[in-house]
Amino acid sequence: MSGKDDRGAWGSRLGFILAAAGSAVGLGNLWKFPYLTYRFGGGQGEQNGAGGFVLLYLMAIILVGIPVMIAEILIGRRGRQNPVGSFEAIRPKTAWKMTGYLGILTGFIILSYYAVVAGWTVEYVAKSVTYEFADYQAQVPDDDVKVAVYNESVEAGRAIAGGDNTSIEQNWSKYKASFDSPEALKAAVETKRAELFPVRLFHDFLASPLKQVGYFFAFMLVTVFVVLGGVSGGIERANRVLMPLLLLILLGLAGRVLTLPGGSKAISFLFKPDFSHMTFEMVLWALGQAFFSLSLGMGALLTYGSYLSKGDSIGSASLAIAGLDTLVALMASVIIFGAIFSFNLVMKDAGVGNLFTAIPVIFLSLPGGQFMVIVFYTLIMLAALTSTVSLLEVTSSYLIDERGFSRRWAVLVAGSITFAVGVPCALSFNVLSDFTIFGKTVFDLFDFFATNIALPFGGILILVFVGFVMTDAERREELSDMHPVVYVIWRFLVKYVAPVAVAFVLGALLLGKVTA
Ligand code: PHE
Repeated sequence: MSGKDDRGAWGSRLGFILAAAGSAVGLGNLWKFPYLTYRFGGGQGEQNGAGGFVLLYLMAIILVGIPVMIAEILIGRRGRQNPVGSFEAIRPKTAWKMTGYLGILTGFIILSYYAVVAGWTVEYVAKSVTYEFADYQAQVPDDDVKVAVYNESVEAGRAIAGGDNTSIEQNWSKYKASFDSPEALKAAVETKRAELFPVRLFHDFLASPLKQVGYFFAFMLVTVFVVLGGVSGGIERANRVLMPLLLLILLGLAGRVLTLPGGSKAISFLFKPDFSHMTFEMVLWALGQAFFSLSLGMGALLTYGSYLSKGDSIGSASLAIAGLDTLVALMASVIIFGAIFSFNLVMKDAGVGNLFTAIPVIFLSLPGGQFMVIVFYTLIMLAALTSTVSLLEVTSSYLIDERGFSRRWAVLVAGSITFAVGVPCALSFNVLSDFTIFGKTVFDLFDFFATNIALPFGGILILVFVGFVMTDAERREELSDMHPVVYVIWRFLVKYVAPVAVAFVLGALLLGKVTA
């Protein structure tokens, strides 16, 4: 079969919306957004609020995200090609196709580290099914518990035995003496163990190069398998089942968490406007996160838009996709923070692992907890899959359209290149943890470059192309069903508000005015 016949199309409009929402909803919503709100909420949770950051994020979605999304899908549907081919089809023989190449490159980069984290979810589903968590908990050595108690007492400025020279053992015997009964001590030790084991578990897991590369490979394999199935047979069919399932699971978990004592605290933590500690850094992250979470700026939605038929409304589809994506991010945060506040957890290093270290402690101590852990990690795994599928589809569609590959070869080649690029990311947590460029591991560098530079930069190019290079007649033809007033507002956002906002943030970053 020649490349052109191998393109494919959506079976229905709903299929497109679900697939695009599947691309958008992923680790960005379930892992990154809660982590950023935690970080910008002041780190310790309750005393500061994250309302300011959440508000900035919502503004970024409305003023920049949705206008860019409409622009990007519009290019895809008009060009009917992969990102490179679509720019070339609309403005032949210009340098605009470079925007497409940038997107393809960014696609390889994002997929190569994203699929590593996605691989973590597979391990965690397996662990929760076999209940390996419980065994692990019993294995936390007493010494670790003692050290934890010691560190806590030092941090609190009151090493129990007093003075700077307190040894761990001295501190421990005072600690022991502070309990009325051996049972009370035992209970306290078990609680400590329960808090410690997920962190140990996670660090042991990261330290294994074999597991990191193995799960990454496994996840790429499944992604390749779905994309091989093609647009309506593979991607659409998978998303039709997975997206509704995901929403149901989230609703169930959110409902459960809201009955816990921390549920209402989570709501006020997230939604009470709090502008007392807004920083410019928050603006940078809110904007980058909007691009990342909505899958914008590198041609994923452009590619999905290229399979959309002429009669379908781009405006209302975009609204639905962005709405769903935002809803999922907020629900995930309610679940995670509700659980954290209910258990007074302090997530010490607010790094990549929070989703993997906090959730087991929380859910396993609830009735039916094992079931909830299984459900939760399965949900994250599936959400990640529908995103990796969209990333691999971008690079594959380029090989199909531009290089005349059959779908099968395109997917296998793109998948293999991604795997090769991703191995150093998988090794960033063990063998290559000391290998840094600009002070970042390969994993962190890829994430930073993609989220904070490549996607917003791609976004500006898309905005300028649609806002200034395309004519009103061309734009109008693709958005014929849009109300004239809405159209004028959208055009204003695309031409002025969004590019200026993104350029401002990107400029500040490149001039070193904000730190990463
Ligand atoms: N939007 C996806 C998420 O939130 C990630 C992604 C980014 C997917 C860019 C495709 C393109 O997890």
